[in-house]
Amino acid sequence: MSNDHIKTTTDPLDRFTEYYLRSGVSKRIFTPSKNPLLFIEGVSGVVLYRKKSFQVEMFICQPNTVIPEHTHPDVDSYELFLYGMQFTHSGETVISEEQAKQDTNGIPSWAYKTLRVRPNDTHGGKASKFGGAFISIQHWLNGVDPTHVSSNWSGETMGYQHSKQTGLLNTITQPSTELELEV
Ligand SMILES: [Fe+2]
Repeated sequence: MSNDHIKTTTDPLDRFTEYYLRSGVSKRIFTPSKNPLLFIEGVSGVVLYRKKSFQVEMFICQPNTVIPEHTHPDVDSYELFLYGMQFTHSGETVISEEQAKQDTNGIPSWAYKTLRVRPNDTHGGKASKFGGAFISIQHWLNGVDPTHVSSNWSGETMGYQHSKQTGLLNTITQPSTELELEV
């Protein structure tokens, strides 16, 4: 995603991304009152900004968390690398384990690298042994109000909790260990 492209585009997500990252609004965090936090399958999320169909959410993944390849049917987004995340897109590695570890003057070399993830694009990831963090800049489509992208999910889920959240519970068998945890 080049700046030249953003300045001239009519793409709604590109225009919002330019606004969010360049206008200065991102220097403050505006967490909404309604449903701003996510805690699921070793992933925590906090909404940094939400307005109409646009939203920005930061995710922190516990060490070695695997996000299986999936799509978000009603979300067009950019993933923005912060730390420690391998990313795949359409089955191809976009940021490798080695790249995720690279450092430039104390900052991850791939920080602020963006990856466009359109609604039908499969993508996934894995956190490093120290964990991982990334930001998702989203445009919600088809009249669906922004919640968490983990709710708007097609594909293998991250586990039992996630399957409950998505309503895909009947697609997996509840593991016995989870039964014990829930008692
Ligand atoms: Fe995703």
